[in-house]
Amino acid sequence: MSDRYQSFTSSPLGQLFVKNLGIPNPVRLDRWKVGSPVVDGSVVVGGDGRLGAAISAALDSLGVANVKTPTEGEKYKALVFDATGITKAEELVGLQQFFTPLLRGLRSCARVVVLGTVPELLEGEERIAQRALEGVTRSLGKEIGKGTCVNLVYVAPGAESTIESTLAFYLSPKSAYVSGQVVRLGATGTTKAEPVADQTKPLDGKIAIVTGASRGIGEQIARVLHRDGATVLGVDVPQAASELQSLMKELDGDYLTLDITGTDAPQRIAQHVRKEFGGVDIVVHNAGITRDKKLANMAEDRWQSVISVNLIAPERITAELLSQGLINKNGRIIGVSSIAGIAGNLGQTNYAASKAGVIGFVDSLAAGLKDGITINAVAPGFIITQMTAAVPFATREVGQRLNAMNQGGLPVDVAEAIAWYASPGSTAVNGNVVRVCGQMMLGA
Ligand SMILES: NC(=O)c1ccc[n+]([C@@H]2O[C@H](COP(=O)([O-])OP(=O)(O)OC[C@H]3O[C@@H](n4cnc5c(N)ncnc54)[C@H](O)[C@@H]3O)[C@@H](O)[C@H]2O)c1
Repeated sequence: MSDRYQSFTSSPLGQLFVKNLGIPNPVRLDRWKVGSPVVDGSVVVGGDGRLGAAISAALDSLGVANVKTPTEGEKYKALVFDATGITKAEELVGLQQFFTPLLRGLRSCARVVVLGTVPELLEGEERIAQRALEGVTRSLGKEIGKGTCVNLVYVAPGAESTIESTLAFYLSPKSAYVSGQVVRLGATGTTKAEPVADQTKPLDGKIAIVTGASRGIGEQIARVLHRDGATVLGVDVPQAASELQSLMKELDGDYLTLDITGTDAPQRIAQHVRKEFGGVDIVVHNAGITRDKKLANMAEDRWQSVISVNLIAPERITAELLSQGLINKNGRIIGVSSIAGIAGNLGQTNYAASKAGVIGFVDSLAAGLKDGITINAVAPGFIITQMTAAVPFATREVGQRLNAMNQGGLPVDVAEAIAWYASPGSTAVNGNVVRVCGQMMLGA
């Protein structure tokens, strides 16, 4: 499942084609390794708003010491701009004044983060100007290339102290395949972050359920949550029992083999959680299937099976765990949507309905959850797994290039975004859907 096109373009002959024909040139993306710093290089912080002190405190706490004032000829790994002080359209030029002189000095796989105020909480000119920030970050992500990720973080007034976990994600190689995204902190739910006792094991003592954990994205989610200190309960179908068992043995976790669409599946999961752990902190609804056909040729069972696995099962399992009080204080519910649920896709009306439904599932629960419990979803784009290996070769090759990174993502990219949502520091990250798609050209 390697990317043969990328292997070719990184060869000397491939580089000749890149230079002479201008064909897409996917760079090898930096990915985070245990023990690596959050930012490996210097950072410039600019802008003038209410987040200055919070940004300094967060960078300090994350061990980002290399904060520089811009100097001629210096190369930067990250740029952070506090745009919360922008109250009218005339002041948007502050972004141009900050970024234009610095962009040519960015290193490969750099990070750009703009912080603003949640527009829906504002009125008049300020609301308009803050909403305009999206146009800057989404375009900049498409302009810079070289594996650079550009993201916008809207922070509600009062949620200033919660930015650390989100900066840790967006500034580090953990966000390798996340660009052009907009996240809102503190817009619904709580505006206080839980302290993270040990940055190297932020999920220490936490229990995490991961459905569809035996392979693909689910396997990586289990690995990353385990790396961060969680005990993982992997769930998968009986046919995947041996892969699931050996993975959970390796991760010192627990497993449950069942079909999540079974009538008694939610009760069985709840019973297991109550008996073995007394409660759960993180629930990741990852299991998913495709049964593609154009709607004109769609049989009812193809429709129904996709909706049952991808949408109804997460709804029923969550409802059961919540009603039995088994999701612990500051718990995390995490859905796995898809770019297809945002942009639609030929032959995938059933799948896209299920994945748009996952976004509805986040929207419907986000405002009403209690005790610091949050719900968010990731929407992966083209991720290289057995699911996408089944896509015909030509479609797969083209599909992988239609994004700002010119390449498919890896399961670990989705897993890192989920680990960010799961962090105790992410209590203010609620009701968000973040695409892990390398800023795919399709969709919003
Ligand atoms: N791979 C991609 O590019 C991509 C893109 C967007 C979204 N996604 C979503 O990410 C998730 C994981 O995808 P993947 O590529 O790793 O797929 P995959 O097919 O490799 O893995 C899916 C896992 O879910 C399990 N599963 C399926 N039905 C189940 C059921 N009824 N009960 C319990 N377990 C069940 C499977 O056994 C398998 O282990 C899915 O929700 C998928 O829709 C994937």
